[in-house]
Amino acid sequence: MQFIPWLLATFFLLFGSTECGITSQWDECGCRWMEWEAWGTCDSKCNGERSRSRKVWSYTHTPGCVWAFSTCASNDMGDDYSRCNTFCYNGGTSDSYSCSCVTGFYGDCCGFQVNCGNPGIISNGKLNGGTFTYGSTVRYTCHSGYLLVGGSSRRKCRLVALWSGTKPRCASKPCPTINVPVNGALICNDWRTDYGQFCTFFCKESYTVPRGVIMDDFYVCGASGTWMPSNTIPNCSVTATNLHATGGYSIGPTYSNCSDDRRGMQELYIKKLSQSDFRHFCKKFQQECIPENVSVQC
Ligand SMILES: *[C@@H]1O[C@H](CO)[C@@H](O)[C@H](O)[C@H]1NC(C)=O
Ligand SMILES: *[C@@H]1O[C@H](CO)[C@@H](O)[C@H](O)[C@H]1NC(C)=O
Ligand SMILES: *[C@@H]1O[C@H](CO)[C@@H](O)[C@H](O)[C@H]1NC(C)=O
Repeated sequence: MQFIPWLLATFFLLFGSTECGITSQWDECGCRWMEWEAWGTCDSKCNGERSRSRKVWSYTHTPGCVWAFSTCASNDMGDDYSRCNTFCYNGGTSDSYSCSCVTGFYGDCCGFQVNCGNPGIISNGKLNGGTFTYGSTVRYTCHSGYLLVGGSSRRKCRLVALWSGTKPRCASKPCPTINVPVNGALICNDWRTDYGQFCTFFCKESYTVPRGVIMDDFYVCGASGTWMPSNTIPNCSVTATNLHATGGYSIGPTYSNCSDDRRGMQELYIKKLSQSDFRHFCKKFQQECIPENVSVQC
């Protein structure tokens, strides 16, 4: 069995170097491994590394063996490393040494969320929405009697942690709220709700305004801060079974069902406005002057 020591010698030549492994003195000095000690704490709360170590002992006291770890093995053999907490927060993915965060999250462990902060309240209005993180939307509305002007009603929290748009303000409405006539529909342009609002009204089928009352084509909110010709729209308070046969009554367009005839009223409104003295207003806002942008209230 002469080849066994030779084999061992070869083994030590190959692997017993001080670089990585046990030394050639391992046997001669009676070296033995101690149990690994417990793992140390993870060095990060995500994607971390931890280590443990072990010692050697000698079961013999051989003269000439200097008692040290390096007598038995290279120092790196006393340490062991492993990955720990191999995860990232908030859905981030862990590639071997770092976290790739889901859009809207950041930080070594993806533990932070992009937050635009409270965009602020406005006077005479309300901030709707209480989430200020990336992708959230808040909406500003004004109390009744006020109009949202000079900013964006919707603002979105962007990745750069800034809100889109600008903060609007609530300006007092130039004209008082105009009434929806009884048994009638109030039709207004919705693309300008301050100066330059043009409203008209239709009566429900078989109703009309009282005798002698003129059905003006448009009620206009003017620079004076009042509706012209009047701040109130007459009610369609008169029942008339045969309007054409009834004298002294102003006859305007009618509808039979507010929701069914909504589209028809919107279209008629646009047609009327584009043929009226106010047609320049439709020209100026060509993109907006469409039936979809006409409000109908019954
Ligand atoms: C209505 O008007 C607004 C501007 O006031 C415009 O942004 C919008 O595109 C128009 N059309 C519709 C269908 O809302
Ligand atoms: C229309 O009717 C309402 C409710 O009955 C009333 O308050 C209002 O004064 C009437 N408007 C007109 C112009 O008569
Ligand atoms: C109007 O029409 C809708 C269906 O299109 C119906 O549900 C509703 O009851 C109608 N309203 C009236 C007042 O007839």
